[in-house]
Amino acid sequence: MKEFFTHSAEETTELGRSLAAELRPPRLVVLSGDLGAGKTTLIKGIAEGFQAASRENVTSPTFTLIHEYRGPEVNVYHIDLYRIDTPRELDTLALDDLIDEKSVLLIEWGEKFERFRCDRDVEITIDRLGENDRRIRIATD
Ligand SMILES: Nc1ncnc2c1ncn2[C@@H]1O[C@H](COP(=O)(O)OP(=O)(O)O)[C@@H](O)[C@H]1O
Ligand SMILES: [Mg+2]
Repeated sequence: MKEFFTHSAEETTELGRSLAAELRPPRLVVLSGDLGAGKTTLIKGIAEGFQAASRENVTSPTFTLIHEYRGPEVNVYHIDLYRIDTPRELDTLALDDLIDEKSVLLIEWGEKFERFRCDRDVEITIDRLGENDRRIRIATD
């Protein structure tokens, strides 16, 4: 378990950039934390770290559910399951089809589903400590 503290959105995005160097595909990463915790803000940096997108172009896939960012070596899939409630609805997204040797899946609200609590390679938990302060914990066991 690694633990980081950030004091601005910018710092969280920079942390995401540095995390990309440690995430070799294929990887399934679950991000948990309340709305506004900073999950999408961290993913901006991860996608940028893989040269798959610039941070400004990474936006929440709350309505479209899946955004795909293709980089030279890694394809980043940013998934938001906030609006998905049942395993049946989850199946319709066919997330398994996205998993291959070039893919890193970053799943916001993935912890809602038992299968991702079991299958994830990495779990990132973000806690809001104050307006601009966040604790970011990364578990890889
Ligand atoms: N240290 C910080 N880390 C991340 N976001 C922060 C931080 N401080 C303030 N914020 C703000 O909190 C919000 C986080 O939103 P977002 O990343 O969309 O959260 P989530 O995806 O978890 O719902 C943004 O408005 C961001 O500017
Ligand atoms: Mg989000």
